[in-house]
Amino acid sequence: MTLPTLQIGDHIAQHPIIQGGMGIRISGANLAAAVANAGGIGIVSAIGLGMNSAYFDPQQSNPKKRQAQFFEANRLALIDELQKARDLSPHGILGVNVMVAARDYEILVKTAIAHGVNLIISGAGIPLKLPEYTADAPHVALVPIVSTTRAAQIICQKWHRHQGRLPDAIVVENPQSAGGHLGAKAADLDAPNLAAAVVIPELIAYIRAQWGTSIPVIAAGGIWNRADIDCALALGASGVQIGTRFITTDECDADRRYKDFHVQAKPEDVVIVPSPVGLPGRALQNAFVHQVLASGTPNPKETCFANCLQVCKFRETRETYCILRALDRASQGDVETGLVFAGSNAGRANKILPVAALMAELTAT
Ligand SMILES: Cc1cc2nc3c(=O)[nH]c(=O)nc-3n(C[C@H](O)[C@H](O)[C@H](O)COP(=O)(O)O)c2cc1C
Repeated sequence: MTLPTLQIGDHIAQHPIIQGGMGIRISGANLAAAVANAGGIGIVSAIGLGMNSAYFDPQQSNPKKRQAQFFEANRLALIDELQKARDLSPHGILGVNVMVAARDYEILVKTAIAHGVNLIISGAGIPLKLPEYTADAPHVALVPIVSTTRAAQIICQKWHRHQGRLPDAIVVENPQSAGGHLGAKAADLDAPNLAAAVVIPELIAYIRAQWGTSIPVIAAGGIWNRADIDCALALGASGVQIGTRFITTDECDADRRYKDFHVQAKPEDVVIVPSPVGLPGRALQNAFVHQVLASGTPNPKETCFANCLQVCKFRETRETYCILRALDRASQGDVETGLVFAGSNAGRANKILPVAALMAELTAT
């Protein structure tokens, strides 16, 4: 069977596949453009891009100056990344993923709009203000990420009441399998009511009953192969969002050692780890994760680096770790002392391949 196209707002992708945004610098311009060129939707993660850019001096010892420089560097580095993605994919559908939990959320959203993105995907919190920040750009599609129908209800009601609009699509991320931060408490991760087979039909029914329309619902978490895509579509989803599988591609923007670590991982290496954001995360076990699980705080002498999050346990109480530095170390190739986020399927990759080959495999008739 040929896969259907995916329409989100004014944009029609040849294949119903969104590449999930992956920070920090796991999904940058190279990966996003390659996916867009292959007929999917490519997503640049906007988070923490300034960290390893020419705009930021990590040696700056004055914390106030460092913070100010960090946020400005994020903004400038995002502009560079979006320009690069557009140069690599002049006609593809390109978006950004911006985490609500970031302190520079509004600036990053507005910067992305000003630099030509086709859509904004936003989770790690409830993106209640997204339509307000993008009111001058009605052509940009807005796509919240939720794990429950309740969260989608809150978003639809608030967006409709205050801005007269509904989401252009909704990503349903299954916390039982997705990589990165998860939208449920650790104790609730196995709750049957969070399964995709429950939430996707429930959300589609809610949208039809409450709003008398249909909004594309996108299944995320644990999508690995064509059979998984077919399953998601059979539940009523209009498309899928895939993260982990795109890590083991040539174009993924992470260091080669990060990709190799994924290739070498076994299914039992995927673990749940606490994060300073206050949500559990799914990651590959390594020396860093062992220390977090054993002692809670691997680097007790570390201090807050850039005040990057709205709410951060590490900044406030020194619990857990600085997630900015932990994710950055990993994406630079330090896979033992960094945090390597991964979905539950991570142990299945056995090679690194070009995005075009992966997309061909996923979409073959
Ligand atoms: C390394 C990594 C980093 C991620 N970073 C983000 C992020 O910054 N923001 C976000 O909304 N989701 C993030 N995610 C979630 C993905 O966008 C996607 O929804 C999820 O990985 C889907 O599950 P899968 O990995 O099983 O395909 C990340 C996932 C991974 C594996």
